[in-house]
Amino acid sequence: MATTTNNARAGAERVDARDKVRGTTRYAADDARAGLLHAMLVPSRIARGRILRIDSAAAQRVRGVRLVLTHENIGAFESGGFLMSGSGFGFQSFQPLRSAEIAYRGQALALVVADTLEAAREAAALVTVEAEASPFAATIGSPGAQTVAQASVLPQPAFADKRAGDADAALARAAVTVDARYELPAQHQNPMELIATVAEWRDGMLTVHEPTQNAEGVRHGLARQLGIDAAKVRVLSPTLGGGFGQKNSLQSQTVLAAIAARMLGRPVKLVVPRGQLFHAASFRPASRHRVRLGADREGRLLAAIHETEQQTSRHDLFPSTGTDMTSRLYGIADFRGSEQLVRTDVQTPGYMRAPHEHPAGFAFECAIDELAYALDKDPVALRLANDTRSDPITGKPFSSRHVAECLRRGVQRFGWARRSMAPGSMRAPDGSLMGWGVAIGAYKAAVAPAVAKVRLEADGRVRVAVGGHEMGQGIRTAIALAVARALGAPVAAIEIAIGDTQAAPQHLTAGSWGTATVLPPVQDAAARLMEDLRQQAGGSSGTALALLRASGRPFAEAESRRRAPGQPEQVYGRLTGGLPAVGGPVYPDYVAYSFIAHFVEVRVEPTTRRIRVPRVVSIADCGTVASPRTARSQVEGGVVWGIGAALREVSEVDPRHGGFLNADLAEYVLPVAADIGRIEVDFVGTPDPRLNPLGVKGLGEVAMVGVAPAIVNAVFHATGKRLRHLPVRVEDLLRA
Ligand code: MOS
Repeated sequence: MATTTNNARAGAERVDARDKVRGTTRYAADDARAGLLHAMLVPSRIARGRILRIDSAAAQRVRGVRLVLTHENIGAFESGGFLMSGSGFGFQSFQPLRSAEIAYRGQALALVVADTLEAAREAAALVTVEAEASPFAATIGSPGAQTVAQASVLPQPAFADKRAGDADAALARAAVTVDARYELPAQHQNPMELIATVAEWRDGMLTVHEPTQNAEGVRHGLARQLGIDAAKVRVLSPTLGGGFGQKNSLQSQTVLAAIAARMLGRPVKLVVPRGQLFHAASFRPASRHRVRLGADREGRLLAAIHETEQQTSRHDLFPSTGTDMTSRLYGIADFRGSEQLVRTDVQTPGYMRAPHEHPAGFAFECAIDELAYALDKDPVALRLANDTRSDPITGKPFSSRHVAECLRRGVQRFGWARRSMAPGSMRAPDGSLMGWGVAIGAYKAAVAPAVAKVRLEADGRVRVAVGGHEMGQGIRTAIALAVARALGAPVAAIEIAIGDTQAAPQHLTAGSWGTATVLPPVQDAAARLMEDLRQQAGGSSGTALALLRASGRPFAEAESRRRAPGQPEQVYGRLTGGLPAVGGPVYPDYVAYSFIAHFVEVRVEPTTRRIRVPRVVSIADCGTVASPRTARSQVEGGVVWGIGAALREVSEVDPRHGGFLNADLAEYVLPVAADIGRIEVDFVGTPDPRLNPLGVKGLGEVAMVGVAPAIVNAVFHATGKRLRHLPVRVEDLLRA
């Protein structure tokens, strides 16, 4: 037990740090329960077609093999539906093994289950599939890729084009204009933790251990797929080794493990290997952007048109919402944003950290830099001159907005005043070209409903149960700090049950709404518990535990539930049904966003043209900082992601074969420690009390928005080269 002195220190630490560094945190793949069987998927080697015949005889002969599941012997089961359809649970609607159809390269065609992982792997390699191949479109540029206007096929107004005023007319009148096209590749999340499922049946009850950001969605999705009551399914996801959107919905292989476990009457573990994950789960879709900006000669932005094309699958329309964000970066009275979706033959893409905001923000913030140079105006001054208090799209005020403060503080900390405007005009002491770039970012401050229970035992233990998922972002730490403050309890005494469908309804944790969703009901329940104890004690003060002990009661507990401003009571039905029930960023009285400004220094080695990022300064406006240490870490992580997106990461496609070629960590190049220089993080820290009593907005994703354009703008400043695609590589700077 921590002493009082340690508690004060513990307040600044991650509550789960000790377990993590000692390796005692348990992940689903660590499961080694008695009787466990091991599974391996057999992926498709073609990009589209139909299975004619599957031969599993050789696989069956491998010693220890118990089952080879294919579409022929698996029996009937349902699709879990598509998360973004409004009533589904899966990252895609297409469910492998339900038919002979092959929809994308890497799709699971069979599942092998054996006594050992080695046997399962060996047998999986022996399954042979005879298939009839059909034509396919691997990229958004491939013949057969089909483009549809999002506004004509997805629900309105949620996925409508963004319009304010008459952007086309205003652009035609503008004295200074920019018209530029940008391109971003597909990318894959690569959390350290692989997706792993352990499925076990006992007395007709299915228990699933799987890292997911959406335990309730997995539970209800599996119930639908298996045709059983959701009361018969429990999902546990207490800790994830990284989510990043990859684990935000029902995976296609989870039900296969559950069915195999039911058939064999034994628990089954399926760990999807890294190489298969590039096709077994969602990814960041490739996108193209055209941005047109119009300004007067003084640098007042008059008009913007932002058109996007974003990759989706043949079977689902994964919505694009990039211009939701870019329409709110500045006070541009005449704005038009329109999104197009391009159907290709891949698994359905999905949400990868700042899913639309990173690519859309890259295009828009590079275009703003191009405009700054067209106007010969300092890029920070141009941004400050076009700040706004209200949202151009709805006309509503922002709940809070401190973009100017982010920029001003960044200017100070970075030393921006020493920057000379001309490209190629600054040199580092070692002779390399030096470039300084800036960009801003925004990310919606959304909120989901949540139910929180806080219970204090006479032995001093505090039990908190709420809907939320710990993927390393620090949600447990934020909860513990809030409860400790409210009850006057040591952080070490607080046990937090999250990611368990038996503890409380577990809404999807994503979209940077975790803190703003979880803390208000937790704080409220803790406050009620205190209030109840104080009343009992006739108004005397003290810690919750002192009051409880004085009362002689064995325990005290309180519950609270909260939903987003303006949400109807029925939204709790979606929460308990495992469906997304997110409110915002447009609320009845305001629009809520978090903001950030990034200042980046790059150095370009004159002969090899190697690009280094020695220094980044990031100033965030996320309202109240609920947990300083994990918040800082979030922003550092977001900056690293931005460096990866700008200079390293691309999922390579060979249009002749489909799928993704560089499906491992050797060839999917991520930034490593040696690529990262100094990252300085600061927060405006001004609470946003309109959004919730704690004044917290969101942070996880805004952290990354704007990093890539700040880097590419810095590369322009260093070299005079305008690069309009990601990632930027040495060869881009070598070309004339
Ligand atoms: Mo996150 S990309 O919103 O799961």
